[in-house]
Amino acid sequence: MGLQARNTASRLPSTVNDLEKAPLVVDDVDSSDLIKDHPRQPFYKHPLSLLIGVLLLLLTTFITHQFDFEFPFPSPSKPLPGFIQEGIKQCEIIARPPPNPKPFDEKRKFNDRFVKGTKPTWLKNGTVWTGEKDGTEILYGADLYLDGGVVRKIGSPDELAAFVKDKSDVDEIELGGAWVTPGIVDTHSHMGVDSAPALRGSDDTNSLHASAQPWLRSLDGFNTHDVAFNNSIAGGITTMLVLPGSAGAIGGQAFTFKPRWTYENTPQSMQVEPPFVINTHGNGSWDRTDAWLFLKSACGENPSRVYSDTRMDTYYKFRQAYTQGKKIKDEQDRWCESPKTQTTPFPTSLEYDTLAEVIRGKVKVNIHCYEPVDINSIVRISNEFRFPIATFHHAHSLWSITDLVKQAWGAIPPAVAIFATNARYKRESYFSATEFAPKILADNGLSVIMKSDHPVLDSRFLVYEASQAHHYGLNFSQSLGSVTTHPAKAMGLDHRLGYVRPGYDADLVVWDSFPLALGATPKQTYIDGIPQIINPHVVQKPAEAQKIFSEGKWDKEITETIATRGETDLTPKKSAKNILFQDVAAHYFDNFDATTFENGRGDVVVQDGEITCMGKCVIEESDVAAFEVIDLKGGSIAPGLITVGSFVGLMDIRQEKSTRDGTAQDPLKEEGPVTDGILVRAVDGAQFGGRDTLLAYRAGVTTAVAYPISNSEFEGISYAFSTGAPHPLAEGAIQNPYAALHIALDDNSKSSISTKIAILRRLLLGEVDEKTELVEALKKAAKGELTLVVKTSKADVIAAVVRLKKEVGDKVKITILGGHESWLIADELAEANIGVIVSPARSYPGDWDSRRFLAGPPVTNHTLPSYLASHGVKVGLGIVEEWQARNTRYDAAWVYANNPETFTKSSALDLVSKNLDELLGLDLEGGKKGWVAYEGDLFGFESRVRGVKGYGNGQVDLF
Ligand SMILES: *[C@@H]1O[C@H](CO)[C@@H](O)[C@H](O)[C@H]1NC(C)=O
Ligand SMILES: *[C@@H]1O[C@H](CO)[C@@H](O)[C@H](O)[C@H]1NC(C)=O
Ligand SMILES: *[C@@H]1O[C@H](CO)[C@@H](O)[C@H](O)[C@H]1NC(C)=O
Ligand SMILES: *[C@@H]1O[C@H](CO)[C@@H](O)[C@H](O)[C@H]1NC(C)=O
Repeated sequence: MGLQARNTASRLPSTVNDLEKAPLVVDDVDSSDLIKDHPRQPFYKHPLSLLIGVLLLLLTTFITHQFDFEFPFPSPSKPLPGFIQEGIKQCEIIARPPPNPKPFDEKRKFNDRFVKGTKPTWLKNGTVWTGEKDGTEILYGADLYLDGGVVRKIGSPDELAAFVKDKSDVDEIELGGAWVTPGIVDTHSHMGVDSAPALRGSDDTNSLHASAQPWLRSLDGFNTHDVAFNNSIAGGITTMLVLPGSAGAIGGQAFTFKPRWTYENTPQSMQVEPPFVINTHGNGSWDRTDAWLFLKSACGENPSRVYSDTRMDTYYKFRQAYTQGKKIKDEQDRWCESPKTQTTPFPTSLEYDTLAEVIRGKVKVNIHCYEPVDINSIVRISNEFRFPIATFHHAHSLWSITDLVKQAWGAIPPAVAIFATNARYKRESYFSATEFAPKILADNGLSVIMKSDHPVLDSRFLVYEASQAHHYGLNFSQSLGSVTTHPAKAMGLDHRLGYVRPGYDADLVVWDSFPLALGATPKQTYIDGIPQIINPHVVQKPAEAQKIFSEGKWDKEITETIATRGETDLTPKKSAKNILFQDVAAHYFDNFDATTFENGRGDVVVQDGEITCMGKCVIEESDVAAFEVIDLKGGSIAPGLITVGSFVGLMDIRQEKSTRDGTAQDPLKEEGPVTDGILVRAVDGAQFGGRDTLLAYRAGVTTAVAYPISNSEFEGISYAFSTGAPHPLAEGAIQNPYAALHIALDDNSKSSISTKIAILRRLLLGEVDEKTELVEALKKAAKGELTLVVKTSKADVIAAVVRLKKEVGDKVKITILGGHESWLIADELAEANIGVIVSPARSYPGDWDSRRFLAGPPVTNHTLPSYLASHGVKVGLGIVEEWQARNTRYDAAWVYANNPETFTKSSALDLVSKNLDELLGLDLEGGKKGWVAYEGDLFGFESRVRGVKGYGNGQVDLF
């Protein structure tokens, strides 16, 4: 930051205008000159003149020393030495108050990021969520006029018509009532430093040299070739705070950017309110502006893990660094008390100047911290060194210690930036992470922000986080605020971002539905008044999708969460054998007549855990008492969902080795007759009752498929299990102990992909005659008796698999897992009868193997699932991480919402049920499949699961 390296003193700020106006002089003004300048006043003859003179002299000396005051009549003294002049400029800079709050300037006509030649745009008839009035204001039928890179006018068509005098060069866009929001602001992104596709040559997220390095700057590693820029714009992202990674206690300085491509094609041209600029007007200098600085810190497990520290070491390192920051701050302040008497240059520290600025309150401090122990330590440190914290990030437990957070130093409590449902991947996110956190935080008066940690979550779908927060109780104005006004405020940019307001940056998103609706997608994203999506593909969404829906009501669950500090017992607590579901509007079973509910709504009767009647059902008056009666409010009954792709069923906490089955033996590794060619079965490592498993069950996922955790080509045999079962020996718990053989062709670190294909060929052709389990399994696979699930995303590798199938015979059953580039050879896959489990359901070009992904609307017409399905390929949807299992239903609903021409509701549900059954060779028919009763339309966020029939104990669990 600011006060630059010692050896750059000659390149310090030169645009500090006020200082440049008057030349500085060495000595203070001579008071005798002052007297001589006023000869007409012969006051020296006055009897008190001597006394007055002495007093004046003393006063003048005092004033000039005390305030470095310059009298308006400078004497022609010799100039100050350069180092003092430079130091005085630095004193002026450090004396500036923190940048905010800036007044709301409705008359702002020009955005400094305006691109010459950008046409004014007139957006007509929008439904505008402005962010005003605590996020409750909505303007219906509003027009917006964008010019100069700002929103110039918002009003009725008549008001706009009066305002726009010359329409000749204006883009007039009819919105037809479409929702408009401010651009989405992501306060936790690693875009540009952890860029896509991930390559060793562009890994600039973490330094790894020391835990506390306030001197590092994400700007220095910001890669302008990140494919994620356009991709995130397609989801409405218009500004992001790019943080260094969280490996260390102080990871470095963060910078704010807008993701749009700039003509200059440079990191600096993508910045918003840069804290430094190159002054190209003079001879070049690196000048501090008035903008905020940003710092990234982290506490807890990351610094402990990466630097082999304990928490105690980490906080010592914090204190050590801040002590250095305090020291340099004090030295600077002392120097500035009497600059002109100094004999050495203004003190600076390349390493710790930023922390001095933190203590001066001019840095937005962003801290990744999960738990009470860590948040408490940081709150103490903020008070020890007296600096405010802008935002706590991740903060999975913060909802349980809201009073503590308010004790952080400074007047404004820190904001809290969290995920909606991404949790339990490490110990500090395991115990008290809850989907109700946004609601609880807001109820306690804290500013809630939903963040991506891009690419941990693809920031293209940041609004999806806000929608989930809404579903779990946060009201709609707060939910939309959590990705717009709240982060803009926490970043000190709410004088130009985060609202739809006259004078604000023309960063807007026009949506194809109510922005919190499932699958909401931008029709267009404007940044600095420039439409970003070229020829957008817009899906016509139904009127239903345009409606505001109210937040989910989870009072009982929230009370329980608070009472248990988040460690709620997730096992089902209530069940019934006989149930009468009323007001049912639909079902999704093949074996019942599809017209059951065609004429409105009906009942569903369950007896001994089995559905015995749908539609018009009659229960004898005398029997009613034996039934649990549940009103589904126009909901539906559907087959249980299946999840595949994560290690649900083999681990509880991904980053804790002791909670996992462990890594499977490589069958190709020759270690002796006992282990050679051994094929590990995941079922032997079965682990039940994990929180992700139980949350999936509650969300209607009745079956999970797990394949062994492995580093080898032949990963082993997957198993399918019932997520609600209490243990592996319970009746119906294991649904298929020997499901498919999983093969990984996504890793060339140990041997080449071509070597792996060659080995597979030998085995499938029966050229090896040892009697190992591996050899036997591939003989079965060659005959079509065992499905091969091949993990890869790359079209070329998939092509090699297609060729291999042609060589070894048509009988082989192959399914691709991953498959992000598979659309490139969709016809060939269809012809070879090879299906694809798209995993995760929404592609992200995170690695080289998936860089030719299909983006989906608004970038392309098709999503990957719809493209494959419409080319005759059998498709399923998978996941990658355990926490995603619970969101399986939303993945299917997302595909349906954005591809209504390819999928019906029923065929979209098949993507996560029937199709997966077939693609994985699970053979779940014959009563093993569970079913789920949903209140409300299961394709929307408004719905929730009320009953699940899982494993075979004849009970339906009720939620
Ligand atoms: C604005 O859009 C809504 C929704 O499509 C429509 O009902 C209304 O007629 C439109 N108003 C004008 C003035 O076009
Ligand atoms: C640029 O540098 C030259 C040589 O040091 C100096 O004479 C000139 O005044 C400088 N110009 C500006 C605008 O700083
Ligand atoms: C990204 O978007 C810009 C338009 O804003 C376009 O010019 C550019 O070609 C896009 N880049 C890629 C890689 O699609
Ligand atoms: C995208 O799909 C829509 C609806 O099917 C169609 O009208 C449009 O022509 C398609 N666009 C392209 C470029 O395929």
